[in-house]
Amino acid sequence: MGNINILNGKKLAESLYEMQDLCLADDVELRKPKLVVITIGDDDASKVYVRNKKKACEKCNIIFEQKHFSEDEDINIVLDYMKHLNIDRSVDGIMVQLPVPYRFKGIEQAIMPDKDVDGFSTYNLGGTLNNVKHIPACTPNGIMELLHYNDIDLEGKNVVIIGRSNIVGKPLIGMLLERNATVTICHSKTENIKNITANADILIVAIGKPKFINSYYITSKCMCIIDVGMNRDENGELCGDVDFEDIVNYWKMFSTDNIERYITPVPGGVGPMTVYSLVKNVNMIYSEQLY
Ligand code: GUN
Repeated sequence: MGNINILNGKKLAESLYEMQDLCLADDVELRKPKLVVITIGDDDASKVYVRNKKKACEKCNIIFEQKHFSEDEDINIVLDYMKHLNIDRSVDGIMVQLPVPYRFKGIEQAIMPDKDVDGFSTYNLGGTLNNVKHIPACTPNGIMELLHYNDIDLEGKNVVIIGRSNIVGKPLIGMLLERNATVTICHSKTENIKNITANADILIVAIGKPKFINSYYITSKCMCIIDVGMNRDENGELCGDVDFEDIVNYWKMFSTDNIERYITPVPGGVGPMTVYSLVKNVNMIYSEQLY
């Protein structure tokens, strides 16, 4: 009989910190790794993400620094600050928390690729497509590890991604192709999304619309749904882009068909895997230029 499995990203991330020895002992005599997070303007979701990143860094003995700029800051001041971080040898990783006010769009490209801990630079994004050594984007890398450690096979599978952002959709294309998946991307201008999602074996949703994807979008062949969304529903409760209850109830109708099915919860699914990937990237940069 097929089961419905909840992909517990929180638990997996916790065991990966230990397994991969990501948290340096507090008594190391070497300098500690350091991450600088730049925030511009006020975005409520960003505050939660940054707080979680700070907590994980503190747990893993990474020095965490946040530099905040107001939304009407002179763009040259921000760029000068980023230039200074690029050459500061005590700084391993730099990131700009997104979204930023429109005027600052693309400013993260001023981070030099060697310190681009988010993997958003042209070099690192390109690296996902031609298999050269690069820093992988955190959310896509977290998703790939979540699939890997749960033995979810990708070879030959139809993977449909909803959302074409630089943060999730675009880097995922390269990573999934590398694992021999057949990849389709849907976005806001895609016509008849349901016709495409109906053919998905695996569906990855990153559109930022509360509970947008429900059982009408899938068929019984869909065996895995990854929900990247982090929204508030009409009652102010945290929820994803996927209507979790509706999908699980739909899947229950096929409980005798021997297919193992998987779904991520929100919170506790993709989010902790993103933070784990960030810590992993900071440590990778640090250990490669240790001095
Ligand atoms: N906003 C939402 N997710 C992310 C992320 O992974 N990195 C950055 N920089 N901003 C984000």
